[in-house]
Amino acid sequence: MENFDPLSSFGPDVAARYDDELRGDEDDTVAFLASLADGRPACELAVGTGRIALPLAAAGVEVCGIDQSRAMLDRLRARPGGERVRVVRGDMASEAPEGTFGLVYLVFNTIGNVLTQQGQVDVFRNAASRLDDDGVFVVENAVPWQTFGRTQFVEAERVTGDEVVLDVNRFDPTTQLLSENHVTLSADGVRMGPIAQRLTTPAELDLMARVAGLTLRERYGGWRREPFTPASPLHVSVWGR
Ligand SMILES: C[S@@+](CC[C@H](N)C(=O)[O-])C[C@H]1O[C@@H](n2cnc3c(N)ncnc32)[C@H](O)[C@@H]1O
Repeated sequence: MENFDPLSSFGPDVAARYDDELRGDEDDTVAFLASLADGRPACELAVGTGRIALPLAAAGVEVCGIDQSRAMLDRLRARPGGERVRVVRGDMASEAPEGTFGLVYLVFNTIGNVLTQQGQVDVFRNAASRLDDDGVFVVENAVPWQTFGRTQFVEAERVTGDEVVLDVNRFDPTTQLLSENHVTLSADGVRMGPIAQRLTTPAELDLMARVAGLTLRERYGGWRREPFTPASPLHVSVWGR
């Protein structure tokens, strides 16, 4: 995307508003991850403001995290319980907090924020290198089927009397890069929310896992261990050695 810095997607403005509207699946996510951690320490790649890390820590799991956005990490530290999550700032393709973990996880489509296949493979390799011998790597990612069939589309994300949010997308199938801008129109003016993502199939992620020495253990269509079917909007995948 021209005139776009990927780091700007999670700057101070976004961090300040990030937790205003939660996804609503946080309790299920925490229950799933706590059962896999099974008393062992966990590490969240791209921990953000702690949407998952904070309730997971509150559930008794020792959690640490990495994120490249100073603004998102500042927000995490300022939230209640923020002091319980050890965080470092850096690139999840090459860095992580000290130690090895029974669980490393990466949720909310964030593998897609790494914009090359090589970079995504590096994330898998980095995650694998931080796992205990019987540790697991969990990724939650949207399926790309609908987008793979289109090169551009606009969705009305919110329509109210005083505000409209348009989700404007362009997809390049040769690079699998989705250029997206959430454009908010209101009496206050126009606000841009650009983000780029490299979309992947579950099968491509399985191959990345294999390159990193991991094999698929479980795959679900949601955090409640729903079956993964052609109708599933996302997958929750668990790889181990
Ligand atoms: C959609 S948010 C998800 C945050 C959190 N995991 C959650 O579920 O709410 C994406 C996060 O990924 C971070 N991020 C993107 N690319 C990254 C990278 N290469 N290394 C570390 N963090 C990254 C961003 O700064 C942002 O905080």
